[in-house]
Amino acid sequence: MANIETIEMQLKNTNETLKLGEIIGKSLNPGSIIALVGDLGAGKTVLVKGIAKGLGIEEEPNSPTYVIMNSYEGRISLYHFDLYRVSSEDELFGIGYDEYFFGNGVAAVEWADRVEDIFPEHTIKIEITIPESDGEDSETRRDIRIEGKSKWVLSFKNTAEQVFPTLRR
Ligand SMILES: Nc1ncnc2c1ncn2[C@@H]1O[C@H](COP(=O)(O)OP(=O)(O)O)[C@@H](O)[C@H]1O
Ligand SMILES: [Mg+2]
Repeated sequence: MANIETIEMQLKNTNETLKLGEIIGKSLNPGSIIALVGDLGAGKTVLVKGIAKGLGIEEEPNSPTYVIMNSYEGRISLYHFDLYRVSSEDELFGIGYDEYFFGNGVAAVEWADRVEDIFPEHTIKIEITIPESDGEDSETRRDIRIEGKSKWVLSFKNTAEQVFPTLRR
């Protein structure tokens, strides 16, 4: 689609993931939706901790594995979903997820690939992968791919370039 842009970047360690999350958090608006994809241990929750900080939330999110969703209050509320144990959209309809997706907060959804169909067009998709191990620091390196509406991605990129100079081409 023409109005979709992507950014790819490599993060060196947990701190950089937190930092990236914080910049993302600052760039979000009420109604923003983040769909997170990546294996166990990729760093989805770490990124959400950064996002929470960027939203002005003092509490630090942890993995809400057994409750599907935790909410946090800040400049904008954060609804943190973890769909690891969810196998169908019905379970989400059951908890009235749409109130959180289409309300005045930000929804950040781990394991978003389990229920792809529910995500609206303005969703920001973030995929985190652990690269093949190839020596020094490889355990803490992560490849990130961010996809979203061009308008958001381009303005986000402008800000992110200040913190991650390697994004500049
Ligand atoms: N660059 C990195 N970004 C995020 N986490 C990292 C990174 N390098 C190492 N880690 C470690 O990987 C783990 C990621 O855990 P978590 O965020 O809970 O993963 P997920 O939610 O994707 O299952 C943490 O223990 C973190 O310290
Ligand atoms: Mg997690």
